[in-house]
Amino acid sequence: MLKVGIDDISLYTPAFYLDLKTLAKERGVDPIKYSKGIGQELMAFPSPDEDIVTMAANAALPLLERCAIEEIGTMLFATETSVDQSKAAGIFVHDLLGLKNNCRVVEMKQACYSATAALQSACALVARNPEKAVMVIASDIAKYDLESPGESTQGAGAVAMIVRANPRILEISATSGCFCQNVEDFWRPNYRQTPVVDGRYSTQVYIKAAQESWLDLIQNCDLQFDDINYFCYHLPFTKMGLKAHRKVARVAKSAKSVEQLEAQLAPADRYNRQVGNCYTASIYISLCSLLDNIKEDMANEKIALFSFGSGCVGEFFWGTVVPGYKQLLRTKRNIELLQNRKELSFEEYLRFYKTNSPDDGLAHSFDKETTGHFYLSALENHHRIYSS
Ligand code: CAA
Repeated sequence: MLKVGIDDISLYTPAFYLDLKTLAKERGVDPIKYSKGIGQELMAFPSPDEDIVTMAANAALPLLERCAIEEIGTMLFATETSVDQSKAAGIFVHDLLGLKNNCRVVEMKQACYSATAALQSACALVARNPEKAVMVIASDIAKYDLESPGESTQGAGAVAMIVRANPRILEISATSGCFCQNVEDFWRPNYRQTPVVDGRYSTQVYIKAAQESWLDLIQNCDLQFDDINYFCYHLPFTKMGLKAHRKVARVAKSAKSVEQLEAQLAPADRYNRQVGNCYTASIYISLCSLLDNIKEDMANEKIALFSFGSGCVGEFFWGTVVPGYKQLLRTKRNIELLQNRKELSFEEYLRFYKTNSPDDGLAHSFDKETTGHFYLSALENHHRIYSS
């Protein structure tokens, strides 16, 4: 059977962050609620010249060092914070990267889940035509109402991947388990910039979806919980993954201790604790974190991934790490990206929050504040003008 999966992966997050200790002080909250209660430390926050397009293009640019643009037959762009109701955000990225005119581009949406739908679709496209690669991009800005319970779980980031035959990083299994149900836990009507959230309920829905997806997965293949040493979860906040993982372990009747279960997630949590929720990109940031932070060679190890999007769709799937994968990782670059960010004061955070993504339809120009290669320079006559 043809092997298909992730051949290359690259992440990007904005150049600025807010320390959650600063937010805790301003909101009169015990900082331990954020660090221990939800398991978050810093949240990435985009400057006004950054959006899902610039983050996506900045994530994808390094992929072109190893993949010829002629090979890319399709780009699938997953987001739930799109910049247009009609045009796919990926078309801007296609232009910024100089991809070929015969590369098809489409945007996909189902809350935080759609990047996994894109990845699975990419695998299917490659199986159909192994000569071509598919670029999958997940890019999102998680923005909640100020002073709402979700404020501490904001974040921003993008992950871009090349999916192709005989991949060099992670071979994706053809089997997975899914769960879909119509629920009202988190949604964003077209007239709102921020979501409507039933926070506590959304965590219950997430856990149920993880449990049901796991049960569906093991119906579809002979994988056992204890065959897997490491798991990546969609991480709106890192404690969420841990709660779901404990439930899945119980359902799977695993004898692993709480500490052992925590250890299965810790390396995959590390980057997410520093960037916050990135919706569609979160689970793939977690994958980068896992691959970068396990010092031992993980060749031939199985990794299980749980993808979740409110509303809701969940999917548990798995992959096998390809020998030699370490040479392909961008560990040093990823660590530097996180370390070189600038901390925002609370006032700067509020300025970014209020000036990001103007929706008044008027002309705006933006100073270059991001350190990213691509940036949004203006909105003019309802056009988005990007520069590099
Ligand atoms: N010290 C230590 N821990 C503390 C503490 C303190 N001083 N104060 C509170 N905590 C703990 C609480 O006990 C709780 O832990 P447990 O859940 O393990 O009991 C945790 O900190 C959070 O406390 P609260 O439940 O009181 O927090 P909250 O109600 O203010 O907000 C939230 C939590 C509802 C998840 C909120 O962050 C939210 O609405 N977030 C957005 C929605 C979301 O992320 N949902 C996740 C599932 S949906 C999804 O995954 C899709 C997506 O990306 C959005």
